[in-house]
Amino acid sequence: MNLEQVHYVDHAITSRQSIRAFLDQPVDPQIIKDILTVASRAPSGTNTQPWKVYVVTGKKRDEMIERVCNAQIELYTKPELAQQYQETFAYYPEKWISPFIDRRRENGWGLYGLLNIQKGEKEKMARQQLRNYQLFDAPVALYFTVNKAMGIGSKMDISMMIQNVMIAARARGLDTCPQAAWNHFHSIVLDVLNAPEDEELVCTIALGYADPEHIVNTFVTPRIGIEEFAVFMDE
Ligand SMILES: Cc1cc2nc3c(=O)[nH]c(=O)nc-3n(C[C@H](O)[C@H](O)[C@H](O)COP(=O)(O)O)c2cc1C
Repeated sequence: MNLEQVHYVDHAITSRQSIRAFLDQPVDPQIIKDILTVASRAPSGTNTQPWKVYVVTGKKRDEMIERVCNAQIELYTKPELAQQYQETFAYYPEKWISPFIDRRRENGWGLYGLLNIQKGEKEKMARQQLRNYQLFDAPVALYFTVNKAMGIGSKMDISMMIQNVMIAARARGLDTCPQAAWNHFHSIVLDVLNAPEDEELVCTIALGYADPEHIVNTFVTPRIGIEEFAVFMDE
């Protein structure tokens, strides 16, 4: 790879950010196919390629949004329903510790601050949470599933593939938001997708063209320096 190519690859990686407001602009289906073809070069343990993805647009997308938004609104008014909407795997820890909880808080309040949502403004928070299930207006939803028989390793494999999708999307001027929020409503999602019983929802990606005017998309998250997470050993 020459220096120019390195620059392009780095730019596709570093220009990815979670986009939470999309334009009402469709994505050419051929571009989605190209992205998925490239992304499928991801590694997987013993080349099992345990990923499956549902590309949802048009009426199916609208049906999905309507059903899940209705469930979320009902859950907001009847918190006792939470039991019904448990994730199949715990993405976050039950008990948070530093420094992760601090970064999580900084991230949450940073985003809410930008949207003018203050502590205690529960309705505003709920409305912003609901934006997840409206796909932040993205025209395309990608629902990623694995076969339940494949265990935890398959979640590593599919995550590598998903990152490829996000980077390949960037290379084509598209943007994404990875979303674990949908996992709570996996039973509805899988029902709308008519997915087989042995499939488990791992992650959802909102895909489309970013709205450059929306303030939420000015939210650029920090990273810790490599001196904080990398340990170099040569003895
Ligand atoms: C697996 C996964 C799930 C996520 N779920 C959500 C989500 O449900 N809603 C959301 O707005 N952002 C979600 N995010 C985005 C993170 O908040 C975001 O990646 C993080 O704050 C870093 O910001 P950046 O993606 O802009 O670099 C998720 C990210 C990952 C990797």
